[in-house]
Amino acid sequence: MSREVHKTIRLNDYRKPDFLIETVNLEFDLDETRTRVKSLLTVVCNHDRCEGIHAFVLNGRDLALKTVKLDGHDLRHQDYVIDSSSLTIPQVPDRFALEIETEINPRDNTELSGLYLSGGNFCTQCEAEGFRKMTYYPDRPDVMARFFTTIVADKRKYPVLLSNGNLMSSGDLKDGKHFAKWHDPFPKPAYLFALVAGNLDRIRDSFTTMSGKKVDLSIFVQHHNRDKCAHAMESLKLAMKWDEETYGREYDLDTFMIVAVDDFNMGAMENKGLNVFNSKYVLAKPETATDADYQGIMGVVGHEYFHNWSGDRITCRDWFQLSLKEGFTVFRDQHFMEDMTSRGVKRISDVNILRTHQFREDASPMAHPVRPESYVEINNFYTLTVYNKGAEVIRMMRTILGPEGFRRGTDLYFSRHDGQAVTTDDFVQAMEDATGTDLRQFKLWYSQAGTPELTVTRRYDPRTKTLELSFRQTCPPTPGQEEKKPMHIPVAIGLLGQDGHDMPLRTAGATEASTPARGTGRTGGVETRVVQIKKPLEKFVFSDIPQEPVPSILRHFSAPAKVKLDLSDNERLFLMAHDSDEFNRWDAGQQLAVKLILQLIRDFQLGKKLRVDSSFMSAFNKILGSSMDDKAFQAFALSLPAETYLADFMEVIDPAAIHEARRSLQRALAMELRDTFIAVYYTNQDAGPYRVDQASIGRRSLKNTCLSYLMELDEPGIRRLCWEQFRTAGNMTDVMASLANLANTDCPERPQALSEFYETWKDDPLVMDKWLSIQALSPLPHTLDTVQALMKNPVFNIKNPNKIRSLIGAFSTNSVRFHEPNGDGYAFVADQVLAIDPMNPQIAARLASAFTLWKRYDKNRQKLMKEQLERILHTPKLSKDVHEIMSKSLA
Ligand code: BES
Ligand code: ZN
Repeated sequence: MSREVHKTIRLNDYRKPDFLIETVNLEFDLDETRTRVKSLLTVVCNHDRCEGIHAFVLNGRDLALKTVKLDGHDLRHQDYVIDSSSLTIPQVPDRFALEIETEINPRDNTELSGLYLSGGNFCTQCEAEGFRKMTYYPDRPDVMARFFTTIVADKRKYPVLLSNGNLMSSGDLKDGKHFAKWHDPFPKPAYLFALVAGNLDRIRDSFTTMSGKKVDLSIFVQHHNRDKCAHAMESLKLAMKWDEETYGREYDLDTFMIVAVDDFNMGAMENKGLNVFNSKYVLAKPETATDADYQGIMGVVGHEYFHNWSGDRITCRDWFQLSLKEGFTVFRDQHFMEDMTSRGVKRISDVNILRTHQFREDASPMAHPVRPESYVEINNFYTLTVYNKGAEVIRMMRTILGPEGFRRGTDLYFSRHDGQAVTTDDFVQAMEDATGTDLRQFKLWYSQAGTPELTVTRRYDPRTKTLELSFRQTCPPTPGQEEKKPMHIPVAIGLLGQDGHDMPLRTAGATEASTPARGTGRTGGVETRVVQIKKPLEKFVFSDIPQEPVPSILRHFSAPAKVKLDLSDNERLFLMAHDSDEFNRWDAGQQLAVKLILQLIRDFQLGKKLRVDSSFMSAFNKILGSSMDDKAFQAFALSLPAETYLADFMEVIDPAAIHEARRSLQRALAMELRDTFIAVYYTNQDAGPYRVDQASIGRRSLKNTCLSYLMELDEPGIRRLCWEQFRTAGNMTDVMASLANLANTDCPERPQALSEFYETWKDDPLVMDKWLSIQALSPLPHTLDTVQALMKNPVFNIKNPNKIRSLIGAFSTNSVRFHEPNGDGYAFVADQVLAIDPMNPQIAARLASAFTLWKRYDKNRQKLMKEQLERILHTPKLSKDVHEIMSKSLA
């Protein structure tokens, strides 16, 4: 059997490029099936001398090469070598002009990388390695060039022609064609190139920067979506302002453009001056978008805009440095949203994502450091670890250095490296140089995989009025890293007195290694200190502590670690009621709920009757009945930990038991507190017009949380209430909340609601995504049949990533139905991985990741999942994307 072996790329093998490109002149003659791409490169040697020493190697894939000219002379076939992934010219001078003409077929491009068609319009996606699918080029981020782009296309079909930078000229040509010439004055790597051509509507606005420069802002969408762009535009202006205020970063071109497309592998892309977005992250109006959609849009618009500095002006030297731009930019978008919404609530939702998904990745066979050491397919490394743990690493530096020190660090980073392609080491160096801090040990966060665990013990001495806190740190082994070195972990701490207030904190004796918490939101009377944990065992003594305090550890989740601390239930209840740190107030409740549900799971597995602890019930009741200012926080505090998070605490994951236990607790709470749930539901019902401000979002969130508890009661009256909400709500948040509840319940209203919704929205693809995923996530027994039937529905399209994610992707996260003990769920998802792989390997690989944690399940499920992993792995012509995930999962 001959199977292609895929090459592993290693960080240690990095070499600087042999040749640099000064300018690129591109000319695209657009045609659906036969697009001509002419590229003229001015190439210079990047050593003292190249002539006769280095061959010039250009990357290229799926290209029909038409001509190659060196300094104006046609190269003959014997003057160069081509294979499936490159063009090599063995003999080149130290400086030369190279002209290449290729032909490509955008219509057949189902991978959605390179130049492709979406909704009849041309668009490109070049990150990470899509540029090489249009022309031969040294497609690596440390080759930065000035781009000039000419687009030629049929004027009637493609009236709008866009690329990066400034429009230089445009006009008509013969045969109904027209052209546009663009120039981007900023040198950039090829992955930031973009081109869009189509029949698009344009929404315009402007922003005046802090130095008084007026920037034209445009959002391009299909004509029927014109009424859904206002929120994205407002978000963009807020982001531009925020980056000026928070980082002193001003926008640098005269125009900033966003284009929304329906077919997109990711969320959005930061191409210089021309961001391309999945329409999901642009389009919103109250009737079609939920509060979560509105917030998602603001976060993603912010993220891509912030990349203009953290990614475009300063980019990555190589793809191992991906977190340099992504981790930093995710931190920037999280911080932006903390400032635009509510600090505590945003932090809770970000930590929820980290703890439920990144911690799993860190504990899986795919575990890798924030700066990976090797990869087979770079697209497989756009991960929660690189992104979200990477953002935590930046956040920790800010906690260690304080906001002012961190700002000095970013100022130095931006000025020192402007126009360069650099490394995460360069970033940390700027932080060290700007503040005089030693971050050598801290850098282990970039190179060591796995989630560190902190075991905290405490000893209060009433005689000396001192409290000693000991921290023991460990980190579990991960693939290729058996032994771990101790990390530098910033731990924010508060101590609560019996009155529920924070005590003043003083550390005693020689252990003074702590710094006051800066930037962790200290306000009047609130006392938080950050201690720096560096050794395997570290002790801190706090003096002048009049009574035994309740410790509040890892406030605002100051490090991406697991904490073990033997608090009693009463102490947790106390923190839940009084902690000045919103995150820990919420987390105390989560810890109690985890403990309780794990007990229920054991009872369930033993066939015992479920009983719910009364102190939990009454604490829950207190939160439900209280009238908090921040209703969004209140809703979070009333939400039980997710099934996937609970799974992390089990030796052997039992998806059915987790689901049953969690629901039984939900039902018990609903039964006990029925009338209060109903009262709170009505109190938070908005009568007036729909508004998307924080207060209204919070009220809807709280009200809908109550509704989902109540729906556990299986009462016809409650179902009518839910149905009423479905019928009368004027906004998608309330419609979706009621529809999801009905879809999870076997009741007469269910089919009726689903079909009415379908009839109303079948022409709106983003709304249909919601309709599909609601059904794919239902725990009802027939879900797999439904999903299979939905694949035949005209609104489904296996070529569209949003549809795959909404239906098949959602099903693969449906823990009860995907993990059905008969293995049907596994076989179905594996079938889809194999069907999608030849069309879109990136999306297939994401879907295939549903199997990576197979070893955490019982023997029967292990066997069934392993069968599918092997079946996929042994399929001929498998992409390297899926191959890498499967082989690492089985290793
Ligand atoms: N640069 C990425 C988009 C990207 C990555 C496109 C890999 C193609 C291949 C972009 O900046 C990004 O990170 N987008 C995120 C959303 C963001 C808010 C985290 C995405 O697309 O999921
Ligand atoms: Zn990004």
